Amino acid sequence: MLLAGRIEPFLLKRKADEVFERCLQGCCFLSFLLAVSLCAPAALGQLSTEDHLAEPGFWPTQDIASRDNFAGSDACARCHGVKAASQKETPMARAAMSASLSDILHTHPLMAFGPGKYKYRIESRTGQSRYSVSDGNQSLSFPLLWAFGTGRVGQSYLFKKPNADFFEARITYFETLGTIDFTPSRALLSPSGIEEAMDRPVPQAEVMRCFGCHTTGSSIGGHFDETHLVPGVTCEACHGPGAGHVKSMTAETVASSGEAKPAIFNSAHLDPADAVDFCGACHGTWWDVKLAGVKGVSTARSAPYRLITSKC
Ligand code: HEC
Ligand code: HEC
Ligand code: HEC
Ligand code: HEC
Repeated sequence: MLLAGRIEPFLLKRKADEVFERCLQGCCFLSFLLAVSLCAPAALGQLSTEDHLAEPGFWPTQDIASRDNFAGSDACARCHGVKAASQKETPMARAAMSASLSDILHTHPLMAFGPGKYKYRIESRTGQSRYSVSDGNQSLSFPLLWAFGTGRVGQSYLFKKPNADFFEARITYFETLGTIDFTPSRALLSPSGIEEAMDRPVPQAEVMRCFGCHTTGSSIGGHFDETHLVPGVTCEACHGPGAGHVKSMTAETVASSGEAKPAIFNSAHLDPADAVDFCGACHGTWWDVKLAGVKGVSTARSAPYRLITSKC
């Protein structure tokens, strides 16, 4: 009854765990049933992204076996010219970029901010942007590597330190302010020192998730491939790697086999529930938001969640 016709083993197991946990917490089973019956209609047919990824076939943010499976958007443009031209203009296509290519950084050569003890700066010149923090005595400075977001709302930055992995700057550029301020939920009341005031170390698993949503082809064979990923959400982030499709669509293949097999994921064939979850792979499905325990105004970031929850 919970997920009519779409009970996945994964999810079923998780639901069972949840029921068990609630019983352990002393919560009355009847009130749990009531809660489920109130929220179930909203989630009918929806799945979490993890569950979609566990199903066979392509799904956005999936790890891809080999880089050779990709053809690149320029190849798609040869035959789907109109789509290619319009897709390039979307914010999604520019969801991440090398910091050296960020217009925001280059049109704001000096941004400074610091309401308290720590002073934050980003200085950009000759194609490089340096992020520095100073407490009056000591200062630290590193070149920025990646800019996330076109800056419709904001743009955040990742960088590395010598012999270390990724760090997220605690400041973000905000379009409404025209300068930097603390990243939402990243400001600290009393940082232990200049390093903690400056950044947050980003664990490898999270790095893979950030790039999984903001770039194309970043996870290859279970590994993060920073050197060959394609910045932004491009054709193959939504349709899966297309080298096989390009090959089967060329005149010679069609002529020799007598027919053209698309051999590519066509999101036009998804049923309505899956079509919403499809965008939710990056925008957050109903279950993604539920399972992450996100509530209140913070759910506004997930259009798929809000759509499923709405009367519409
Ligand atoms: C050599 C030409 C060619 C190239 C290159 C090409 N396509 Fe296609 N594509 C086609 C043709 C022809 C069709 C079938 C059109 C139709 O059915 O109306 C098609 C259909 C599709 C479909 C729908 C598949 C279906 O099941 O109906 C998708 C999605 C698609 N292409 C995406 C891509 C992507 C992404 C790329 C780049 C990786 C790409 N194409 C590159 C020629 C090409
Ligand atoms: C591979 C991940 C991914 C998928 C799949 C995806 N998006 Fe996005 N989308 C993003 C990211 C990242 C952004 C933020 C872009 C930016 O930096 O502004 C975004 C931004 C957008 C925006 C711009 C928001 C605005 O206010 O202008 C729209 C609209 C959008 N997506 C719609 C969709 C729809 C519809 C689908 C499903 C067909 C979809 N997205 C699927 C990652 C994705
Ligand atoms: C699960 C997918 C996902 C992950 C993981 C993710 N993002 Fe996003 N991000 C999105 C989507 C989708 C949007 C667009 C939301 C909207 O506007 O509706 C977005 C928006 C943003 C924006 C605002 C963009 C703008 O133009 O205003 C920034 C900045 C951003 N993300 C940075 C990051 C950083 C940094 C990380 C990792 C530390 C990260 N994101 C991880 C999906 C993701
Ligand atoms: C954000 C995800 C996303 C991106 C990026 C994207 N597409 Fe699509 N594409 C879709 C969805 C969703 C549909 C189905 C639309 C519909 O229902 O008609 C679709 C439909 C198509 C179709 C038509 C399939 C059919 O049967 O009508 C083709 C061809 C196609 N896309 C090619 C491309 C190419 C080429 C690119 C890159 C330039 C691209 N797409 C980028 C999500 C995406």
